[in-house]
Amino acid sequence: MLPSATSEKGSAPSQATFRFRCIGCGSVSSSAAQDFRCSQCGNLLEITDSSWNSQNPAALKSLWRERRTLNEGIDLSGVWRFREFLPAPDSEQQIVSLREANTPLYELPQSSRITGVPRLYAKHQGLNPTGSFKDAGMTVAATFARQAGYHWVACASTGNTSASMAAYAARGGMRSLVLVPEGKISWSKLSQALDYGALTCQLRTDFDGCLLLLQELVRRAPVYQLNSINPFRLEGQKTLAFELLEQFEWEPPDHIIVPGGNLGNSSAIGKALLEMRDVGLIPRLPKLSVIQAEGANALVRTLREAGGKRLVSVQAETRATAIRIGNPASWEKAVKVLQATGGACEQVSELEIAQAKAEIGAEGIGCEPASAVTLAGLKKLLRQGFVKPEETVVLVLTGNLLKDPDYTMEFHRGDLFKDTPYEQSAKLDRFRHPPVVLDATLDAVIKTLEQAEKSDPTHSNV
Ligand code: F0G
Repeated sequence: MLPSATSEKGSAPSQATFRFRCIGCGSVSSSAAQDFRCSQCGNLLEITDSSWNSQNPAALKSLWRERRTLNEGIDLSGVWRFREFLPAPDSEQQIVSLREANTPLYELPQSSRITGVPRLYAKHQGLNPTGSFKDAGMTVAATFARQAGYHWVACASTGNTSASMAAYAARGGMRSLVLVPEGKISWSKLSQALDYGALTCQLRTDFDGCLLLLQELVRRAPVYQLNSINPFRLEGQKTLAFELLEQFEWEPPDHIIVPGGNLGNSSAIGKALLEMRDVGLIPRLPKLSVIQAEGANALVRTLREAGGKRLVSVQAETRATAIRIGNPASWEKAVKVLQATGGACEQVSELEIAQAKAEIGAEGIGCEPASAVTLAGLKKLLRQGFVKPEETVVLVLTGNLLKDPDYTMEFHRGDLFKDTPYEQSAKLDRFRHPPVVLDATLDAVIKTLEQAEKSDPTHSNV
């Protein structure tokens, strides 16, 4: 028998209530409920707070800046620094934090040259404590899971959510249950969950199957679900947009481009942009665009084939395993924020993803394949004229290069597209840097060096 939410742990469970708004029927309710869906129409809930609209934007900007200079306490977290727009825990001691966020905004000089967009930036969420953007949401959701007295937290995952959840659960003294598709997540992410102590189940199904099973499980057992349908997670993920706008001195970029999987992140960023606009922190909205892999393009098809009115699910297949999702839970939230900000939704091929990933690697930054859809998507949006070269563009890089070393090794060895229609494509050869096995002699190394210089002289004076 699992301990119930209220029977374990040292501190008494919280009675705190929060305001939830249904994104379907719009009804607003106040509760401590752990339901993530509206009791009237079944749609997803989001957290809302009337105090968010009565803030003084100028005072907030200087308060947030001042907090960045502090060397202790919750202000070290780039999420809780923006707590005026987050649900409030009973006390600061409840907060489960690994000093997440505070991620860099990089210029991308080489990709700027390739795309012809001089003002091109990457917001690198892969530099979070567990290597992905999930940490920004997890600090908030884990905090409220602990405050509510949960002993077990759980998620279905393509890898990054499980790594992040396991870390924050460990930090908050909770146990964690991970459901992942067998053979379809990278070893790197799986090994994180193991090391952080999660009970890890590799299920013989895909991500969508794992999520369905989890939803059944939470009805039967006192386990708190930390997937992105959990509205507390999306509140934390909102702070990416606050931090980004602060890095731009509150002058909004024209475009923010994000990868789309289960569509929680795009929904969270969109929610933040609308809240910032409503309170006067920014004068206008950037366009938020979502890019998917061609083989996992449920949102693209939902918009094209059903006008965004009903979900068109797909049987997902892509080597960008983080976004190998065919039945995205937050599709309605994503449709709303795309429409509200005037963003686009596009899909890119496996070849385009691999090339873009290599180009981001060549910037000395690197990212995992799912993140590279943003650069591939930007190229497409430029060709379509949706993005103009003179505009300011931010790519959200969601995961660290080290998250999927198999993909990177296969790419450089030339095996990535073995037995696929792309196999013969020579297009990517110039991006490949396979390791060279040599006898351990000076001659052999010098010869290889000379050959490398001959084959790529453009790099000589960099
Ligand atoms: N990029 C990376 C690196 C991801 O891990 C994910 C999602 C996404 C993009 C898509 O974000 O789902 O909010 O649209 N990963 C989830 C996971 C599903 O389980 O780690 P989304």
